[in-house]
Amino acid sequence: MENTKYSKVYRIIHWLIAISFLLLLITIFLRLTWMNKFNVAAIIQDYLSGTDQVLSQEQLIDLAKKIREPMWNWHIYIGYALVGLFSIRFILPAFGRMKIQNPLGKTLSTKMKFQKWTYIIFYFCVIVSLATGLIIELGPTEFKRSMEEIHVLGIYYLIAFIGIHLAGVIIAEFTDQKGIISRIVSGTKDKD
Ligand code: HEM
Repeated sequence: MENTKYSKVYRIIHWLIAISFLLLLITIFLRLTWMNKFNVAAIIQDYLSGTDQVLSQEQLIDLAKKIREPMWNWHIYIGYALVGLFSIRFILPAFGRMKIQNPLGKTLSTKMKFQKWTYIIFYFCVIVSLATGLIIELGPTEFKRSMEEIHVLGIYYLIAFIGIHLAGVIIAEFTDQKGIISRIVSGTKDKD
């Protein structure tokens, strides 16, 4: 199999998107675990039980959300950065760079078709996450609830894609695409 050579633009966009997704994953992880509003509310409740102050459950959750907010703002910042990065990523093929994978080629092997379909499905899911995220933040309030219900499902495809992607790259490195990992880091001669 011919070894793909990754241009500078390709590598920069690839790593900016990869780092952004990792940071985004950290914000989601923190929100679901340490900074979970119910956990934080329980800690405040526990602390107050040793004093003569009482807060309602609603006030406790409100306070917990306020404590979480500076961390969660990073989800929004990274979300906007991803909107920019994916806009560039989807415009690049118009300039003949970083072409979008076409899974319909007749000569493709089953493995290649699987690989290309994985990217297409991933891009579709990312577009849904970005669009619903933007609507939650900037859209009319009557859509907020329904958009949130779709948006929070993003964690499932994100984890699945990262797992499949890493496994695929490692298998490729040790089978027919030796050096693929160093090529996506340091590249060789520019070609898309
Ligand atoms: C591919 C990109 C994105 C992914 C995979 C993603 C994923 C997620 C996930 C999994 C949650 C739920 C966390 C939880 O269960 O506690 C969440 C919540 C949220 N995201 Fe994103 N997100 C993305 C982009 C964005 C963007 C672009 C924005 C806005 C600019 C955004 C704004 C929000 C907001 C406001 C929430 C809170 C919703 C709520 O209160 O239920 N996200 N996101």
